Amino acid sequence: MQAILLVGGQGTRLRPLTISTPKPMLPVAGYPCTSHQIARAADAGVTRIVLGTSYRAEVFEDYFSQHNEFDMDIHYAVEDEPLGTGGAIRNAAQFLTCGPDDPVIIFNGDILTGLDITGLVERWRESNADVALYLTRVDDPRAYGLVPTDETGRVLAFKEKPTTPEEIVTDQINAGCYVFKRSVIDRIPADRVVSVERETFPELLETDARVIGVVDDGYWLDLGTPLAFSKGSADLVRGIAPSPLLEGSIGDSLVKSGTSVHPSASITAGSYIGNGVSVGENAIIEGSVIYDNATIAAGAQVIRSIVGDSASIGTHARITETVVAEGASLGAHNELNPGARVFPNAVINDSAIRFSSDR
Ligand code: GTP
Repeated sequence: MQAILLVGGQGTRLRPLTISTPKPMLPVAGYPCTSHQIARAADAGVTRIVLGTSYRAEVFEDYFSQHNEFDMDIHYAVEDEPLGTGGAIRNAAQFLTCGPDDPVIIFNGDILTGLDITGLVERWRESNADVALYLTRVDDPRAYGLVPTDETGRVLAFKEKPTTPEEIVTDQINAGCYVFKRSVIDRIPADRVVSVERETFPELLETDARVIGVVDDGYWLDLGTPLAFSKGSADLVRGIAPSPLLEGSIGDSLVKSGTSVHPSASITAGSYIGNGVSVGENAIIEGSVIYDNATIAAGAQVIRSIVGDSASIGTHARITETVVAEGASLGAHNELNPGARVFPNAVINDSAIRFSSDR
């Protein structure tokens, strides 16, 4: 089986973490999201995968030329200018070798999921579909693309990000994984920007193509925002989100080697502590991601937050639902509240701020 992974987005909602690293390459529970996805695809029988890259395309090839433990045939379809999700699929198809009637699995690069990938392909095949979409149900669908279906699973409409209550016609949303018949990909216009959600899917419905939705109620999370990102990492660490890369290392926290953690420090709720991190006396780290060589000083509290490479959090500082990017330093007794973002290498002096903003 062959697959395309869409990994060319700018990841603006995760800035400043995505200034130097594209979102799908940010480590979650110690591995780039893309690695978790490739591992799951390999488990489902995928042997050839094309990464549709654009923003910071070089980071992917640099990493996977050194880290291909999956025995996967990985190809890179680089867009000089971002082609949008549909344009990226079309551009990546040049590296597929399957026939026109064969299935191609397509994943958004920023979702964590327990989807039964093989089951989705089976449903595509049984239904003789042009496209099968993975759908999940959410309590508040306003931020997503809604996909109502009839009783046979046939897709009735695509409604991108509803704004009025009347537009919320279902709780089923596009969960960011599809199976396309190869020949349907070849019909997407080449060399221009195309949105698969706004253009390709509605056009397929207009032309009576067979598009089916497959609801899977297993684990699903879009890692697009800082809060979702730290939750996704914590869910992987605790085994709530499945990844073949973490089998055998599931627990309440994941602490890598070469760290110095004071015995009185508390590290809980799925926190991940990278290589070379130092955690001081009575520090509290809860549901957070601490990247390599960061320092969490004595008495500091880091709650549902992300602390970048070599960043430091001062004594008795407290951060909640905050991003502190690489190399930044937060002085003693500072307090950052939900939504705060500290840019790379910024220095905030002791007790300088108590800051909060929108998420
Ligand atoms: P935000 O800027 O925070 O919305 O994130 P994003 O840029 O990743 O956009 P979004 O989450 O909507 O994208 C969904 C998936 O499609 C992600 O995996 C992106 O990497 C990918 N993607 C979005 N636009 C493009 C594109 O123009 N080219 C390629 N190759 N991938 C894209």
